[in-house]
Amino acid sequence: MKTAPQRTIAVAPGDGIGPEIMKAAMAVFNAAQVPLQFETVEMGKDIYLAGNSTGMTETSKRVIEQHGILFKGPMETPKGAGVKSINVTARKVWNTYANKRVFRSLAGVDTVFSRAGIPINIAIIRENIEDTYGGIEHMLTHDVALCRRFITRPGSLQVHRYAFEVARHKGAKKVTCGHKANIMKITDGLFLETFYEVAREYPDIAANDIIVDDLAMKLVSRPDIFEIVVLPNLQGDIISDLCAGLVGGLGFAPSANIGDHISIFEAVHGTAPDIAGKNIANPTALLLSGCMMLRHLELGYHAALIENALLATLEEGARTADFGDKTHPPLSTPEFTTRVANNLGMQPHRSDLAPAGVSEQKFTPPKMPEINRMMVTPPPASAEIQGADFFVESIEQPAKLAQLVQGLAGEGYTISTISNRGTQVWPTASRFTELINQYRVRIEKRPETSLDQQAVLALAQKIVGHLKICSIEYLMAYDGKKGYSLAQGQ
Ligand code: NAI
Repeated sequence: MKTAPQRTIAVAPGDGIGPEIMKAAMAVFNAAQVPLQFETVEMGKDIYLAGNSTGMTETSKRVIEQHGILFKGPMETPKGAGVKSINVTARKVWNTYANKRVFRSLAGVDTVFSRAGIPINIAIIRENIEDTYGGIEHMLTHDVALCRRFITRPGSLQVHRYAFEVARHKGAKKVTCGHKANIMKITDGLFLETFYEVAREYPDIAANDIIVDDLAMKLVSRPDIFEIVVLPNLQGDIISDLCAGLVGGLGFAPSANIGDHISIFEAVHGTAPDIAGKNIANPTALLLSGCMMLRHLELGYHAALIENALLATLEEGARTADFGDKTHPPLSTPEFTTRVANNLGMQPHRSDLAPAGVSEQKFTPPKMPEINRMMVTPPPASAEIQGADFFVESIEQPAKLAQLVQGLAGEGYTISTISNRGTQVWPTASRFTELINQYRVRIEKRPETSLDQQAVLALAQKIVGHLKICSIEYLMAYDGKKGYSLAQGQ
């Protein structure tokens, strides 16, 4: 048996069914003699309600940061305005930039694809920090809500590089980037551009991309053509739940939140409040997440031992109540767990054997950094302000607004477009475009005018006495390339 130095990891059982399935996972780990020590940390809804806004105590935070690994059960997000998800907070605070979710057909788990003989083995790598999950939202007028969506070059490079590394370890032939760059040319455009930048570092692995709606359609008709798919956060969230459905549901979907320092392993599903306390929850997803964790910790032998026992148990027809197949009477969580523990050492006949001895990377517990790491790529040779978009509240007609703002801005500036909800409504427009009480007025400098931050603020000063400015964005050009989108119809 291959042994590794004994490490300690942090364990948070979670809320709802969390403690039931964590108990199951620990029972199997113990039976498999996994060489790890477990330090239980306080984290979850009750800790949040006791006044800890991150859902964990300072001691829990210190323990997790010391060990670098958190094995967690699902946690409930308390209801109410302004309450942030404990799970999302944990992923973001420790920069676990890649969420890897593995979906594969399991013999004994009945699905439309298993019945059709179509095998599924897809890894979805979801960017885990950015996108709309920044949760930066404002009401700009009483009718207009805005959510800011950040896609960054360093963040995208990190997740793409991880996706190609996974491909290399898995021996996958292809990585696919899912995106919506046909519509969001700047944000998803950056995600896509950085994907191909990283792809060039991995000439042995094929790279292609697909628009996310097409991806959704192809996943439900031909899931076998995808190996590894990397996606921005929100799209990755939706697509990974779709993939869970392909392989039998949330009870079979494990996940790893990978960072350079700290990583979190958990099932994709939530606290299942409808079945909590009944001891009928399916521990499969948490067990598979545990196996991902063991591989991360260079305990590939134990990961394979447990995974093969689980696969063999499923093949025998052992089922909890959530399985689609109702031909076998359901087992309780402890009964199912005992079956898995008793099957340690067995191998499945109809599923692929779990890879033994394979570790994804060398794990070293993190050292506390002295300062927060700044991730910045080389700056461009030139960065020029070409104008500014002023988002203003108004119920005037567009032509009147254009006349007003042009008069206020003066000779050195041109109003190039006015749009409402992103659709141009001036200078050319359709009378059928319905309006809401906020416009984007794009003011650009004339060639002879120079523009800097002070000049934009001076423009704002002229406008502000006449209109409510909701927000201002610079129109930047980097190395002469426009860093802003055009209005629909411009
Ligand atoms: P959910 O995943 O908890 O439940 C959806 C459905 O799947 C329910 O019918 C549930 O009984 C079933 N289900 C889920 N896991 C199961 C398992 N292991 N065995 C058998 N059946 C299972 O999603 P829901 O109801 O939207 O969320 C409930 C709570 O969980 C919310 O407070 C949510 O914020 C939280 N949540 C936490 C997550 C995490 O900790 N990573 C992820 C998703 C939700």
